[in-house]
Amino acid sequence: MQDTWHTIINLSALEPNDVTQVIYNNQTLAVYDTTDGVFVSDARCTHAGANLCDGYFDGRNIECPLHQGLFDARTGNAKAAPATRSLKMYACRVHDGEVQIKLPHL
Ligand code: FES
Repeated sequence: MQDTWHTIINLSALEPNDVTQVIYNNQTLAVYDTTDGVFVSDARCTHAGANLCDGYFDGRNIECPLHQGLFDARTGNAKAAPATRSLKMYACRVHDGEVQIKLPHL
């Protein structure tokens, strides 16, 4: 099955330098606006499932609101306990003012 790009939000609707929650196709996504560009992950913390969109974002790292696990928003890598497993990241691009992620053709 071929992957295709799917628009999940307009770039202008993102919180500048912050994390924005987007629900797309029954998936809760965290969209990070960073100085290195836009990145998208699954919003569920890999430790115990808290919604990272409610966490603190410093422009580079997202801190889980429940136990303060820390993830690099650009790579999804876990950086501080109790988080140990990486976030699921989505291939992402900005195209014609829209944030798009790559998903299997629906
Ligand atoms: S649920 Fe995120 S660190 Fe525990």
